[in-house]
Amino acid sequence: MSSPYFTLKVVEVTHETSDAVTLHFEHPEKQAVSFKPGQFLTLILNLEGKEVRRSYSLSSTPHEAPRLAVTVKRVSGGLVSNYLLDNVKVGDEIKVMEPIGNFCLTCAPDNQRHILLFGAGSGITPLMSILKAVLKEEPNSQVSLLYGNSDEDSVIFKEQLEQLQQENAERFHIEYIYSQPKQACDHRGRMNQSMIIKILERLKLAKIDNALYYMCGPEGMMDEVRHALDVLHVPAERIFRESFVSNKLIEQQQQGQHGDVLSSDDDGEIVTQTVTIIYEGAEYHVEVEPDQTILEAALDQDVDLPYSCQAGLCTACRGKCLSGKVHLDEREGLSDAELEEGYVLNCVGHPLTSDVIIEIG
Ligand SMILES: Cc1cc2nc3c(=O)[nH]c(=O)nc-3n(C[C@H](O)[C@H](O)[C@H](O)COP(=O)(O)OP(=O)(O)OC[C@H]3O[C@@H](n4cnc5c(N)ncnc54)[C@H](O)[C@@H]3O)c2cc1C
Ligand code: FES
Repeated sequence: MSSPYFTLKVVEVTHETSDAVTLHFEHPEKQAVSFKPGQFLTLILNLEGKEVRRSYSLSSTPHEAPRLAVTVKRVSGGLVSNYLLDNVKVGDEIKVMEPIGNFCLTCAPDNQRHILLFGAGSGITPLMSILKAVLKEEPNSQVSLLYGNSDEDSVIFKEQLEQLQQENAERFHIEYIYSQPKQACDHRGRMNQSMIIKILERLKLAKIDNALYYMCGPEGMMDEVRHALDVLHVPAERIFRESFVSNKLIEQQQQGQHGDVLSSDDDGEIVTQTVTIIYEGAEYHVEVEPDQTILEAALDQDVDLPYSCQAGLCTACRGKCLSGKVHLDEREGLSDAELEEGYVLNCVGHPLTSDVIIEIG
């Protein structure tokens, strides 16, 4: 198995808005990095004396190879986003983990379908990759984007989107929604259920059979989109959602606290247990304390497992539980089918029994 880690060189930096930059990368040997539109890259940096990893959706598409790009929006007080915005320059090399993620689209030239995208703020990044891929690779498909921002100046990719609209006037439509517009606009306010339904009805997109729906943005906005699609009886299997923050973080932000409370919906007690991990042909025995996740314990004991978001969102740390029982603090990243098949996320997983065996890869 080849290593999932490699280094990319920054070849261009584009300032998209006052608080968002696109970092364009190339592999030093100009090798194309393979990924699907909508997937994300894990950046691995050494900051303040320790290794930190963050996930960033690829805003480029595979046909832009050998270039690939991520677009980062500043998070107030955020360690990595501020570092990337303020310090990274052309020529820098950044260690990454290969692109992964389930929020993706596979294109085929014969497809004839409608792709509806719902994005807000930095949530546009994976949608941009999907949008460019469909317009390039599916000549008979249509794309519609509902894009929410606070005002006209905070729109990431404004020029690129306008150019794509001009080049694909028959196939690509955008509706901008501004919560605090500086000028008169069509849609004022936050993207909410009734606004979404009205827009889709006006565009004659409320009842179409061959559509797929992709959303990425703040959780509140995605809940509104989901409610609107439920009202329109869109089947759940046509709807795809990408979260940049975990439910746990949202709860903590709502409660104004940062605790490590484990939900107690499992019928087991969390005590120190030894977990067997099978990874890249080797077997490791990791002792996991009650206040640790399986990933934390493994990293502490120098078992170098793959991971990225450490929040149960990205599935980089996914493994299959072959035996025993594991409690997950966060299930967002796994589908019901994956949970049923026994997949677990080590970054939010705690062993509940003494016979846990997890296979990764
Ligand atoms: C699959 C995936 C894809 C992602 N893609 C992108 C992308 O394309 N572009 C992008 O800019 N970001 C993206 N993110 C978010 C990104 O990984 C980081 O979480 C974000 O840049 C903040 O990191 P930080 O180190 O600056 O903040 P941290 O130092 O980790 O956090 C600082 C504080 O900000 C809060 N916080 C953390 N993240 C967020 C957030 N996203 N929104 C609001 N508050 C937050 C936390 O409460 C924390 O207290 C993605 C995340 C995931 C899981
Ligand atoms: S590291 Fe992202 S889900 Fe575990």
